[in-house]
Amino acid sequence: MKLFIDTAEIKEIEAAAKTGLIDGVTTNPSLVAKAGVPFETLLLRICELIDGPISAEVTETEAPGMIEQGRKLAKLHKNIVVKLPLTWEGLKACRTFSAEGIKTNVTLCFTSVQAVMAAKAGATYISPFVGRLDDIGQDGMGLIADIREAYDQYGYETQILVASIRHVDHVRQSIALGGDVGTLPYKVFQQLLSHPLTDSGLEKFMADWKAAKL
Ligand code: E4P
Repeated sequence: MKLFIDTAEIKEIEAAAKTGLIDGVTTNPSLVAKAGVPFETLLLRICELIDGPISAEVTETEAPGMIEQGRKLAKLHKNIVVKLPLTWEGLKACRTFSAEGIKTNVTLCFTSVQAVMAAKAGATYISPFVGRLDDIGQDGMGLIADIREAYDQYGYETQILVASIRHVDHVRQSIALGGDVGTLPYKVFQQLLSHPLTDSGLEKFMADWKAAKL
């Protein structure tokens, strides 16, 4: 499974990039607003740090505006993926970008029917938001299983980008269910290797090594 980092904070992307284990970056308007850096400047900096798909979300709400904005974003760098909301307008824009060879990430997906519609529109990635479904008492990871089954059944090539990940167990389940990509907040990325038995095991190995005085 590919790992993306879900942040617009340059310091977090720099730190994650140093591990060599990050395949791409997702941003959204809330994350960009929080980072407080002009959008294009931010995207170009992210493209310098990570050589992989970088999702940049449109802020227009009608298809013609989305198409104009998306084309400009795509021209910034070869790795930019235009992120579109899962609305009729977003899917019209998605269809246009698909015909033009511009990569897309269709976001705010909460049902497998929406995911199939995005695939029919030629989306490169679909972003189901598992954490936000869990928040309202629904089964976020169940949605990933449903989409995997539907895409496999009909042979859609749209990649499932598991989004709104809140903890490492979401990552474990994404791997088990065949998610193509997981996009992780930096905090969850940092926790990926944490296990008390790894820590205590290493401590014991080091103590035994020192005590042996070989
Ligand atoms: C994905 O592309 C979104 O930016 C993100 O995963 C949303 O996560 P949240 O529900 O934690 O805001």
